[in-house]
Order: sequence, then C-alpha cells, then structure tokens
Amino acid sequence: MRVTIQQKLQKLVGVVLLAGCSLSSWAQEKAFHPGQLWPDNKGVHINAHGGGMLYQKGTYYWYGEHKIEGGAGNLAMVGVHCYSSKDLYNWKDEGIALTVSADSTNDIAKGCILERPKVVYNKKTKKYVMWFHLELRRQGYKAARAGVATADRVAGPYTFVRSYRPNPGKVPVYPVGTADSDKVNCDHPKTKAEGYFCRDLPGGQMARDMNVFVDDDGKAYHIFSAEENATLDIAELTDDYTGHTGKFTRVYAGHSTEAPAIFKRNGIYYMIGSGTTGWNPNPARWFSAPSIWGPWTYHGNPCKGEGAQITFGGQSTYVLPVAGKKDAYIFMADKWTPKNAIDGRYLWLPIEFKGDDIEIHWKDTWSLDDFKN
Ligand code: DGJ
Repeated sequence: MRVTIQQKLQKLVGVVLLAGCSLSSWAQEKAFHPGQLWPDNKGVHINAHGGGMLYQKGTYYWYGEHKIEGGAGNLAMVGVHCYSSKDLYNWKDEGIALTVSADSTNDIAKGCILERPKVVYNKKTKKYVMWFHLELRRQGYKAARAGVATADRVAGPYTFVRSYRPNPGKVPVYPVGTADSDKVNCDHPKTKAEGYFCRDLPGGQMARDMNVFVDDDGKAYHIFSAEENATLDIAELTDDYTGHTGKFTRVYAGHSTEAPAIFKRNGIYYMIGSGTTGWNPNPARWFSAPSIWGPWTYHGNPCKGEGAQITFGGQSTYVLPVAGKKDAYIFMADKWTPKNAIDGRYLWLPIEFKGDDIEIHWKDTWSLDDFKN
C-alpha cells in the first residue's frame, strides 16, 4: 500500500499530539503534599507502603508493599511494587518487582504477610538485594522471619532466595565498657526481653519491622524488631548482602520499638522508630550513636507541634538522604488505613537539624527548595 505525504504528516501530528498529552498529564508536580492522594504517571495513587528507596545514577526507586482494597488488604496478594522518579515528586509505575507465589507451600505464597521491603545494590556481585519482613500464610505474625530476594535489574523481576530467623546460636556484641551484669546470660535472663532472646537463641531471633542500611565502607546492616518486638537488633550482612554474618547488637532492649529508619550524618548514626501499637500511630522516638554498634542513646520524640504525639498520624518507614544536597534528609512515614489498606497515605517531611539534634515539623505542602543548602 502506498502511503501519501499527507497520510505521513497526519501520523506525525498524531504522535506529537499523543506525546504532548501524556507529558501534560504527568511531570507537573513540584511539591510534596503529605497525607494527600499521590497519583503516579498513570493517575493511580502510589501503591508502595512500608517502603524504602534506592538511588542510582540520577533516579530514585521506591519499593513498597502493594496493598489491595478492603480489610484484608494488608495481606500480600500481589507483591512488592516499584516506582521510579528523577525529582521525587513525579513517580513512574515500574510494575511489580517481586511477585508472590501461586504455590501455597512457597514461603512467599499469595496471602502471606510481606512487609517493609528494602532494596540495596551490591557493587561486588552487581545484584540488587531485597530484604523484607515475612510472615507465612495463615500463621498471623508467628513466623517473624527475614526474607531475601535478588535481581539483576533494579526494577526486577526479583527472585526469592530464602527466609529464616537470623543469627541462630549467636550472642550479641556490646559497646566497649558494657558491664558483664548488663549482658544477657541465658542461665539467668533478667528481663522478659532477655527471656525471649534466650528462648529464640537456638532457632534464630525473630525478625519483624525492618530496614537495611549500607554504610560508607560498603558494609550492610539489617535492623529489625526482635524478641516479640521488645528489642531492636542491628545485624551485619555478609559481603554479598544475602545473609547474616552472626555479628549483631541489641538496641533499646525491652522498650518495644518498631519501624526503624536509619541514616548517617557527619559521622553520627541516627535512627528513628515508633512504639508498637499495631496500625495505630504513636509517638516516634529517635536515637543516635557514634558507631553502628553503639552505644545508642535514646532522645525521645523528634516530632514537634500539633500531632507530634501521634507522629502526625504516621509511622516511620525510611529516611532518604537527598542526592546532591547537604543536610537534606526526608523522613518518610506511612499513614495506615487498615479498613481499606490500599488507601494508605504517605507522610514525607523534612528533617531539621539543631546542631546534632533532629526535629520534624508538620507541613501541608513543601518542596526540596525548603532545604537550606
Ligand atoms: C506495625 C508495623 O509497623 C507494621 O509494619 C505492621 O506489621 C503492623 N504493625 C501490623 O499490625
């Protein structure tokens, strides 16, 4: 069939018009609106709850729990959703990075609980490594396992590797100067938390709410709620990031911290977490330490002003250092909506530094320009 010049022109105009339409319906957001619906490039509210970020060559990747509608929407029926962005305001749907299994005997069977996925890149193996909190299908929150999956491409597909309770048979390391009487002795556990630790010693520690942190020297750490959520463990990962080395420390033992989010500034390690009140918000708490191994100092609630006592309705999930901006760290939290899980909202707020202390204040709208540097 002969194509006339006129037909060619019509086609060209069509393509240009189409491109114009999709550009004008996207890439126009220039601010954060905490707690509001956040449409992706397809106009659909972003579905990446309990999320984490990975930054690579000018692009941010956001991984999170894909929730579904309704009261059972917190079960993993789909998997881990991935989005990408160059400016942190406008997000492109990259699809499902890790898909739950149709095989009901698989650890990540459809209907399991798969929470707080975090992805890191391993320079040595050139693999993307995803860690997550896994609860086996139809077992509630009993299994308390860490799960790991890997991929060759940043947005996946990720292949499930294994799930387990970390560090069986291993005892913690302590900050220099810790008195022997303050160390766990499983012949005589002194507290409820130590009792859980000793109970779980042979099979590995419980691993629920979690995060992964890669330090400047390339070493990676898995931070998780252990001991029935009573204590946070910070555990070293193997060089390929897909296992635990057995070295770990217990932080704020017995004080029930969830939702750990860790970052580093001027050589100081910071951690923000929450209390343990299910899907309901509670006061956040923050800690700092001169070394990843502690001693970790508790500093109370970083949130200030109205709503601070309930973290403005949210619960921490990640702290993102903004690329190329000094002292620009974003506190990321989830506002859970357990009656219709898919409607959960995202609260992103700037972290303000007062010397080495931090504060978080509510903002209806803000942008990266609000960071001073
Ligand atoms: C609070 C945790 O932070 C969430 O990730 C989730 O596990 C809920 N509890 C379940 O109640």
